[in-house]
Amino acid sequence: MLNGRRVVVTGGSSGIGRSLVRAYAAQGARVLAVARREGDLAATVAGTPDGSTGLVAADLTTDGGRRAVETAAEHAWGAVDVVVHAAGTLGPVNDQPGSTLEQYPPDDWYRVFEANVSAVHFLHQRLAGLLARGDHPAVIGVSSTVGRTVRARWGMYAISKAGLEAWLDILDQEWAGMVYSVNPGGTATPMRAAAIPDEDPATIPTPDDVAPLFLRLAHPFCPEPSGSKLDARDWLDADPWEGLRGDGLSA
Ligand SMILES: NC(=O)c1ccc[n+]([C@@H]2O[C@H](COP(=O)([O-])OP(=O)(O)OC[C@H]3O[C@@H](n4cnc5c(N)ncnc54)[C@H](OP(=O)(O)O)[C@@H]3O)[C@@H](O)[C@H]2O)c1
Repeated sequence: MLNGRRVVVTGGSSGIGRSLVRAYAAQGARVLAVARREGDLAATVAGTPDGSTGLVAADLTTDGGRRAVETAAEHAWGAVDVVVHAAGTLGPVNDQPGSTLEQYPPDDWYRVFEANVSAVHFLHQRLAGLLARGDHPAVIGVSSTVGRTVRARWGMYAISKAGLEAWLDILDQEWAGMVYSVNPGGTATPMRAAAIPDEDPATIPTPDDVAPLFLRLAHPFCPEPSGSKLDARDWLDADPWEGLRGDGLSA
């Protein structure tokens, strides 16, 4: 359904990003998987059809890392159709030391903001020219329940995701492409285990379970309006292609 779509997925070394890289590639997309850990990216790519997926080992909080993504996409495709900003980091939350605003450590404050907001913004600036040459381009931000309604003891993680929502709203107003915010909802990943260590991961959706909405939003004729704030939980058992034809070229 996504034949030939050129998709950049950040956070491709783990959790939700890893599942999305594989899900997009399995639908015929060409994918660039981005994160810092090269070995884990290689493991992600190993689960995709031959030749579909490349990797860029890059720290997205640095300009050099973001430039490496731009260069790889330029060389591979000369254009980008979809960017999924799934990379993210947590900082202290819940009953962990430093999770209140009064105690929140400065290093975590800046680190989480850099990864969850600044990296998205400056990577978008790097990729904007390639998106302008893309086919029905889309930007998908990965938000959070606590970014839509902030919560005590979620500190900069909640603030950064609320900031990401605002950033996506402005992008939607300024840019002609499609802009989506997706809240995956609690999903069994290393980040979730760090946030809520007592939770049994078998009781919440897996990263593969939350992929259908992300697949739908990458389709060139996805009917969801730009600016939509969506919940992957609403699509766990749904057909991502409802109302869309199979050639990836038309509605
Ligand atoms: N899991 C949940 O319940 C949940 C709920 C709501 C929202 N989310 C959001 O979903 C997204 C994916 O989270 P996840 O649960 O899948 O977490 P995860 O398994 O911890 O994955 C986080 C990913 O972000 C990458 N990353 C972090 N900092 C980076 C940096 N500076 N440069 C490049 N890549 C970086 C990591 O790769 P490297 O370490 O290799 O760089 C990793 O691939 C995040 O935005 C998260 O906030 C998750």
